[in-house]
Amino acid sequence: MKKRYLVTSALPYANGPLHIGHLAGAYLPADIYVRYLRLMGKDVVFVCGSDEHGAAITVRARKEGVTPREIVDTYHAIIRDTFQKIGIEFDIYHRTSEALHHETSQDFFRELLKNGQFEEKESDQYYDETAGQFLADRYIIGTCPVCSNPDAYGDQCERCGSTLSPTQLINPRSTLSGAAPVMRPTTHWYLKLNEHEAWLREWINTGTAGGQTLHDPADWKNHVIGQCNSWLEQGLQPRAMTRDLDWGVDVPAEIPHSAGKKLYVWLDAPIGYISATKQWAADKGVAWEPYWKSDDTALVHFIGKDNIVFHCLIFPAILKAHGDFILPVNVPANQFMNLEGNKLSTSKNWAVWVHEYVAELPGREDELRYNMIKNMPEQRDSEFTWKGFQESTNTELVNNLAGFVHRVMVLTHKNYGGIVPAVDQSREFRSGWDAEQTGTYDQELHQLHLKLSEMGREIEHFNFREALRILMEISSAGNALLQFNEPWKIVKDDPELVKVVLNLGLQYVAVLSVASRPFMPFAAARLRTLLNLPALQDRQEWLDLLNDLAEGNPVLRPNHALNPAEHLFGRIPDELIEAQVAKLQAAAAAKAAAATAPAEPVAPRFEALKEEIQYDDFAQLDIRTGTILEASKVEKADKLLKLTVDLGFEQRTIVSGIAQHYAPEAVVGRQVLVLANLAPRKMRGIESQGMILMAEDAEGRLSFVSPAEGWPNGWGVK
Ligand code: 2FM
Ligand code: ZN
Repeated sequence: MKKRYLVTSALPYANGPLHIGHLAGAYLPADIYVRYLRLMGKDVVFVCGSDEHGAAITVRARKEGVTPREIVDTYHAIIRDTFQKIGIEFDIYHRTSEALHHETSQDFFRELLKNGQFEEKESDQYYDETAGQFLADRYIIGTCPVCSNPDAYGDQCERCGSTLSPTQLINPRSTLSGAAPVMRPTTHWYLKLNEHEAWLREWINTGTAGGQTLHDPADWKNHVIGQCNSWLEQGLQPRAMTRDLDWGVDVPAEIPHSAGKKLYVWLDAPIGYISATKQWAADKGVAWEPYWKSDDTALVHFIGKDNIVFHCLIFPAILKAHGDFILPVNVPANQFMNLEGNKLSTSKNWAVWVHEYVAELPGREDELRYNMIKNMPEQRDSEFTWKGFQESTNTELVNNLAGFVHRVMVLTHKNYGGIVPAVDQSREFRSGWDAEQTGTYDQELHQLHLKLSEMGREIEHFNFREALRILMEISSAGNALLQFNEPWKIVKDDPELVKVVLNLGLQYVAVLSVASRPFMPFAAARLRTLLNLPALQDRQEWLDLLNDLAEGNPVLRPNHALNPAEHLFGRIPDELIEAQVAKLQAAAAAKAAAATAPAEPVAPRFEALKEEIQYDDFAQLDIRTGTILEASKVEKADKLLKLTVDLGFEQRTIVSGIAQHYAPEAVVGRQVLVLANLAPRKMRGIESQGMILMAEDAEGRLSFVSPAEGWPNGWGVK
């Protein structure tokens, strides 16, 4: 193991909330890894933050009619809060809109320029003449050349998943103005990635760079290396590191032709890991450089598979091009998690949103974490189902883990008043690991040591599912220890054996209280409380436990007093699952209905004008100003409200067909125009003495037509 660790999780775009796919991809695995390293007493810093630039942000802002700043402020706060609630414990959650980040990214750009890493090139790019700006790929839509989807984006078709470039779109149009874009020349800085291809190929496939062996490629996931090689086989091309945009990090002003240019978001975002580290170090009063520039630091990037090329080829090339910086020792990217048989999709609203989960199922954070880890898409895509979530909670957490802990605690309270009994260590019993085997106290502690070491090794190799399986194996063995020896039956005949079994059961629980922390930090804390042990402080408690077990020292000493027994987890009832599935389906259906509604407003078709009239015809209408004093629904008439209207000189009862547009309480006090000389008419048995004038649009929406506020009642309209 290395001396120092810098662990990063992909910076989420601050353009929407987090869903479970994000969690399972880049955040939970990193959190497990980091929590384990902390418990091993390692010097580790875990950085993340919001990715606040790029078209993802500006597209959302336009859609909502707000500024990009408002978007990032809103989602940064939501995302940060969600991470905290679900127990993802960063050392810093930074943001790329911070001045420190802008300075850090600009310094990087200057350094790369100075090192001759860029080629300044003019090329033709799509420009929207109506909007007066160049168009980011996401701002161009057109027909997909692969599947004919008429609304494919300039970088990707969301229907068939093809990666596209804007020039491949048939009939491209700008999402800003709807106009067909034109080609215009523009100058950008291209990173000469082609010049980095050879060393990247060697580094990815052998772990060697500059004659130094940096990592063992056998430790990397096959799918990560495979994806890198497929990019490398296509040949790396110079890639533009700047954009014509009005939101992002400015290309440093002193550089000629920089006006109006911003850094490419995939240049600035990964540099965000560095700025976050700098901010963390400044806050702590320590140096940041050892974390990025020292060979005894292990840099590990946790990401989803869609970010592989950026973290395994482009960012390493940028780090190398700059000089001084270390390369990642591993990029354990995860694949994707699907949901109830379909791909998770923000645009289709097919997702379990984590901020909603923590609000709707408070106190059940670990149940979600557990299920996500059990189904983590480590090597291939996986799936989350609510039924599976219920099953893993009820069977594994409630029956197995919580059941075991509860039984040991209750039996200890019942037989020994909640005090850990002293034992005769030479007593033999039936081991929880194998019904056929007899066990001894020492052997059992030794077995726990083996399992704990095995778990650690799996975590160090990013095999979190397997590590979790071993955790549950310890709990199962604990249950078996009780089941095989039946302490509740033999307490009268063989009290010494009961002491051994319960004492050992408690040692199992004590091991679980440490070993569960990387996976289920909230339950781990509850276990510590049950056992009346100090809360874990990330002061190498895992390492200490390993050492104690290796020496055959029990964790809980005889005479240690426990707290009262409590249930560690509660069952998930069917209704909860059914409600969540129904909610998921309703949300997706609502989104689909909105998506099939006409995307752009249909050009209004006005009603044909009525026949011409003379002024005298109009003059016959006696229209007066009035104020609604009372309003109530008319029984058995969905559309009608009964109104009392003050006309100044008298009050009228008027029945009006506006009930589907206005609630009674919303119209009281409204100033209105009344056709006052309309012959009275009975409606639903009520005599209506006039008519309220309303404006109506193509969609049948109604609006009051009112005089200026405070206008007196009873006066005419000419
Ligand atoms: O794919 C994404 O969500 C990006 N915002 C990830 C950026 S990771 C890093 F480089 F900052
Ligand atoms: Zn397509």
